[in-house]
Amino acid sequence: MNRPTDPHQMTQASTPVGTHAGYMPGFGNDFETEALPDALPQGMNSPQKCNYGLYGEQLSGTAFTANPPERTWCYRIRPSVKHSHRYEKIDLPYWKSAPCVDPDVISLGQYRWDAVPHSDEGLNWLTGMRTMTTAGDVNTQVGMATHIYLVTESMVDDYFFSADSELLVVPQEGRLRFATELGIIDLEPKEIAIIPRGLLYRVEVLEGPARGFVCENYGQKFELPGRGPIGANCMANPRDFKAPVAAFEDREVPSTVTIKWCGQFHTTKIGHSPLDVVAWHGNYAPYKYDLRTYCPVGAILFDHPDPSIFTVLTAPSGQPGTANIDFVLFRERWMVMEDTFRPPWYHKNIMSELMGNIYGQYDAKPQGFVPGGMSLHNMMIPHGPDKEAFEKASNSNLGPDKLDNTMSFMFETRFPQHLTAFAANEAPLQDDYIDCWTDIDKKFDGTPGRK
Ligand SMILES: [Fe+2]
Repeated sequence: MNRPTDPHQMTQASTPVGTHAGYMPGFGNDFETEALPDALPQGMNSPQKCNYGLYGEQLSGTAFTANPPERTWCYRIRPSVKHSHRYEKIDLPYWKSAPCVDPDVISLGQYRWDAVPHSDEGLNWLTGMRTMTTAGDVNTQVGMATHIYLVTESMVDDYFFSADSELLVVPQEGRLRFATELGIIDLEPKEIAIIPRGLLYRVEVLEGPARGFVCENYGQKFELPGRGPIGANCMANPRDFKAPVAAFEDREVPSTVTIKWCGQFHTTKIGHSPLDVVAWHGNYAPYKYDLRTYCPVGAILFDHPDPSIFTVLTAPSGQPGTANIDFVLFRERWMVMEDTFRPPWYHKNIMSELMGNIYGQYDAKPQGFVPGGMSLHNMMIPHGPDKEAFEKASNSNLGPDKLDNTMSFMFETRFPQHLTAFAANEAPLQDDYIDCWTDIDKKFDGTPGRK
């Protein structure tokens, strides 16, 4: 197999038959992949000498004793200790970590933002990250942060990993390439990607400008929710998750690695690309998922189920049934319920709900919740349909109705979310959002049978 000639070309493994080029199907599988023949040891992990003079190294995403352990064996040109030298602290002022409670910012309330516009400034994956909310505590590995990314420039000889978190990336505009230690993920709107804690990567712009949402998970990894009585099918199916095949670079150029560690950022200088894993096997890997393969399940006679019916991925908190984070998808679907108020009902919730619009219109808010926009309904803060949505849903003739051209999501966490100063002061906050409920009128007058 040929070595790469283009310095930014990674040598990539051949693609298994029956899947998309460059990816292997399955959720949390024990994958194995090699970019050069016989680079992967068979039958053992630590041979006395690895083929091609590679170094064997384990990347552990869980404690060694976790059940099941999540780890990947990498066979690489240099061990990771060669991808790290003395550290220098740097400042990325817009990327915040919990706890981040600004005394001048009120997080108590209902908030909604228009899409954060791109600026004239060239921004990459690190400088373009804008934290909107934080929850929990990065130092104790509980909670999360939500971000908007605004990316116009590729990282060049510049790499990053977060020791704090796994990142759930939800593109809304533009296409990005995540060139990671374990292979390449190309990502576009209607797809999501998960980048595990500790995994090194570089982000390139395939089509810009790129904007999207990120959920930074400080806690236990995302997993598939139990389907319970739904059974073995529907919702997100394991085969639709795609992990990349092995790909590596053998380039000796001055390079920078930036590390996020306990909420702080440091850089270290090295003389080569750290994306040098020639072969790997294990169940700790990045992956992507096409949201169009999500099979929604819902009520088929009456009533509106809890939104948890649309959970794509859940990150446990240690308390069964109470997630650190649920990632919930509201996509195209049929509404067929009889004698039912069909939009999401009015409610208050111990969980705090941050929503984003990928495209189209959301049924509880026909106006104002725009593609690229976000909303936050924080812990125990009431919310629900606006006046227009309520009147329409209460008075329409209820035949089968297709909700079309709609894809929104929710990052829901058991912890209250705190707005950053950016979210409160710089992002396009809709000051009049709360007014969408002002016109809801009192209908009750004590008359029996009145509806
Ligand atoms: Fe809600």
